[in-house]
Amino acid sequence: MMKIIKVKDQVEGAQKGFEIFKEGLANDAKVFGLATGSSPIAFYQKVVASDLDFTECTSVNLDEYVGLPAENDQSYHYFMKENLFNKKPFAKSYVPNGLASDIPAELKRYDQVIADNPVDIQILGIGQNGHIGFNEPGSSFDSNTQEVQLTESTIKANARFFENEADVPTKAISMGIGSILKAKKIVLFAYGESKAEAIKGTVEGPQTTDVPASALQLHDDVTIIVDEAAASLL
Ligand code: GLP
Repeated sequence: MMKIIKVKDQVEGAQKGFEIFKEGLANDAKVFGLATGSSPIAFYQKVVASDLDFTECTSVNLDEYVGLPAENDQSYHYFMKENLFNKKPFAKSYVPNGLASDIPAELKRYDQVIADNPVDIQILGIGQNGHIGFNEPGSSFDSNTQEVQLTESTIKANARFFENEADVPTKAISMGIGSILKAKKIVLFAYGESKAEAIKGTVEGPQTTDVPASALQLHDDVTIIVDEAAASLL
């Protein structure tokens, strides 16, 4: 079932997400699936400012660029440290290794991480083309961790964070859609007009690999936190 929560801004969205995490912790959630991108930032700030304690919990991140070392300020390792882990440490945090020399082995390793640490609550953002994690249109709904070729539109959307477009990695390692769907509970944040089309496809559209997030219709506990603009086509 999909539950849609409309909020006036990201601060209110962060508050809603925070309540879900807080309740999860109170109910013994131990593994938190985390996402990068701008959409969850206000939420992480709210978590950081709180007294929630994750020192006995595990985090498992969705994805990482191929080719960026953890010290690169555009890597998702770096993002997570800056936005969350430095201030709210987990007992153990997993992020795919974008520098792995043997990518197939890394994909396998990460699948094992997910199997050993079943996610209780998974945070998601969404790409303008409906991608979740870095599972671009065409990714099968039962995919495991995979290496993905980023689409031109994703590279363009993410270019704002890099000095120039040529610096944006063209590949990433991402938890698959099948792995994401295994989480017990999923919380997706989407803000702004550029996400309206993707949100419409996610909530009302047919289940199609053209809109990866439409796979969430197969899950029984999804909460979508949206502002007016992202919800404008619903
Ligand atoms: C990236 C990430 C996704 C994220 C998306 C949207 O491509 N891999 O996990 O959801 O961007 O990012 P933003 O929230 O900045 O719009």
